[in-house]
Amino acid sequence: MKALKAYAPASIGNVSLGFDVLGAALAPVDGTKLGDEVEIKAAEVFSLNVTGPFAHKLPGDADSNIVTKCYHYFCEQMEKAGNPTKSVALTLYKNLPIGSGLGSSASSIVAAFVALNAYFDYPFDKDTLLTLMGELEGQISGSVHYDNVAPCYLGGMTLMTGAQSPVTLSLPLNDQWYYAICYSGISVSTAAARDILPKHLDMATALTFGRQLGVFVHALHAGDFALAASVMKDVIAEPYRKSLLPGFDDARAFSESVGALAFGISGSGPTVFAVCPSKAQAEKVAAYLTENYIQNEDGFSHVCQIPQQGTTVSQQ
Ligand code: HSE
Repeated sequence: MKALKAYAPASIGNVSLGFDVLGAALAPVDGTKLGDEVEIKAAEVFSLNVTGPFAHKLPGDADSNIVTKCYHYFCEQMEKAGNPTKSVALTLYKNLPIGSGLGSSASSIVAAFVALNAYFDYPFDKDTLLTLMGELEGQISGSVHYDNVAPCYLGGMTLMTGAQSPVTLSLPLNDQWYYAICYSGISVSTAAARDILPKHLDMATALTFGRQLGVFVHALHAGDFALAASVMKDVIAEPYRKSLLPGFDDARAFSESVGALAFGISGSGPTVFAVCPSKAQAEKVAAYLTENYIQNEDGFSHVCQIPQQGTTVSQQ
């Protein structure tokens, strides 16, 4: 019986200017694996084994693991569609830190669904799978949003439509941009980081949000990357969330001093990212962040680009 493994990359939710509606996949340029993997093979009874550098931070019992929930939800949908299911043995390689702002739960969810869908010979199409992924992500973070699951699954930079089909649109990429990213090592729960946000926006903020997003999408399609970078500002979450992130303002000031085009919080933090016009500048920012933003031994920095490729499946 075949065994498969799905690798699902880390991602930046929001990308500063697109709260809950914009996301980008991440690939370190040095080839480091920054994403969770799920392996699947035949078994008499269902089992989940969890391993990898951040496995010890997950709940000990397999039943509470999101990957087990993905399996049960996938089987439920299969049965509803009249498709047979069977027991499988899953292994989650937990390579991403939890509560990091790198789309850690999305990465596990996407890897699980992609592995299951491949194993059962692709019963569900892209939008159906994305909807299932968004629902599971919503169970963890407190509300359904696709800004991590979509880029993690499909790669690139994705904009959510709010429709059932297509769930998401792919935006043009600039292969000249490098992203210095840094995880500080502390854990921030997305649900808690959402709780501190106001429940209503004032008119001026709503207008700025809409204008920036419109200009950004136009600028990417027009290939005017300077214009795109000029509107990468977070007017919704950063004013409230940055108080949870020691060293945030200094890190932005340093990044700008060496030519970064934009700086912001990845998802709900604490990971930060700087958009740089060259690899050398991104390396300078990453070195600064390693020295000054990391708070404990779990932290790390990488220079990344946004890969075209999202989740990949390999035969084992
Ligand atoms: N967009 C979400 C938030 C997190 O900022 O709360 C990432 O999915």
